[in-house]
Amino acid sequence: MATPLNIGMIGYGFMGRAHSNGYRKVNNFFETKYRPVLKAACARSADKIKGFADTWGYESIETDWRKLIERKDIDAIDVCVPNNLHKEICLAAAAAGKMILCEKPLSMNTEEGEIMCQAVEKAGVANTVWYNYRRVPAVTMAKKLIEEGRLGRIFHYRANFLQDWTISTDLPQGGTALWRLDVDAAGSGVTGDLLAHCIDTAIWLNGGLKDVSAMTETFIKERKHQLTGKVEKVGIDDACAFLCHFNNGSLGLFESTRYARGHKALYTFEINGEKASIKWDLHDLHRLEYFDHKDEGKLRAWRSIHVTDHGGEHPYMDHWWVPGLQIGYEHSFVHHVADFLKSLETNTPCEPTFRTALETQKVCDAVLASAKDGKWTKV
Ligand SMILES: NC(=O)c1ccc[n+]([C@@H]2O[C@H](COP(=O)([O-])OP(=O)(O)OC[C@H]3O[C@@H](n4cnc5c(N)ncnc54)[C@H](O)[C@@H]3O)[C@@H](O)[C@H]2O)c1
Repeated sequence: MATPLNIGMIGYGFMGRAHSNGYRKVNNFFETKYRPVLKAACARSADKIKGFADTWGYESIETDWRKLIERKDIDAIDVCVPNNLHKEICLAAAAAGKMILCEKPLSMNTEEGEIMCQAVEKAGVANTVWYNYRRVPAVTMAKKLIEEGRLGRIFHYRANFLQDWTISTDLPQGGTALWRLDVDAAGSGVTGDLLAHCIDTAIWLNGGLKDVSAMTETFIKERKHQLTGKVEKVGIDDACAFLCHFNNGSLGLFESTRYARGHKALYTFEINGEKASIKWDLHDLHRLEYFDHKDEGKLRAWRSIHVTDHGGEHPYMDHWWVPGLQIGYEHSFVHHVADFLKSLETNTPCEPTFRTALETQKVCDAVLASAKDGKWTKV
């Protein structure tokens, strides 16, 4: 009989749904000692959170996250709210001895993130940050190929995250669904929202970054604020591009924008090594493109690996359907939950921990500082 792990979910938006789906599915596909129980969901509006709780099967609701954290019947707090609330909630949850699964980016900046790391470390509570792309099987497979030395020395790392949903000048900033455009709620624009994913994956696959040279742009300078009703200055970066040196000597090139007309969520990366290269594309997330220079000359070409095989060949896939049948975006969250539960069983950290995710925060801060000063900035 599995041990119940009582979840207290804060937020019912995009990530509240993605995580709830992960908790509900995990034990149908993964054998773990712990079984998540959807104990309570929390948001400020009783009506809205009641609707969410009914849809996803939460046993109870709260309208004040402090009350949720105080509850003795909650083991783990899941933080699915805008970035400016992460610190306060995590500090309270750690002080109450709760495990914490916090959405990315960890914090508004490095300073806040460091305080959050110290709090979970002092409390000794299990913690993880939902950089879910690590757990897309094709991305996990990229990690395996690099660890096996198949790429050899790495020369280049290139990543993009392109969207187009903020081009309209009529789009307000702030409030429900639009907090990402409000610097006070988000901390930054595409840097903390989209590039943070690219940076986390890059650090995981290719190691730490040494320094960065960045540029940012805010194309629409003023927008009406949904909460105040006034036209206010826009404080976020709409687009960001940066160059970097990795500690291993390779060169990095990153770009993110919400103004790439035609792109909805095009996260791609490419890594070029001495012996081989790999590339991945979120729109075709179950495939990993691989080029191996040691292939026989007349057959040498990019191959497209459908990462769906069993027998331990392709990460996570043994748990799903039959070879050749692919899975999608939502499953990266199921995998994260499965790995978190396993980490409790084995008493090991579930990566990325707060401490690991702080490295991404440091890079984001360096990127924003470099864009401001127009200078190369050390991470
Ligand atoms: N891992 C990923 O790929 C990914 C994707 C999207 C968002 N995120 C992160 O997840 C977090 C939430 O983003 P989202 O897209 O789910 O946002 P969202 O706007 O869809 O949902 C935010 C939720 O927070 C709730 N909320 C706001 N203030 C609150 C308060 N004081 N008390 C309780 N609840 C409150 C809102 O009611 C809403 O349910 C952010 O940190 C974001 O960066 C991560």
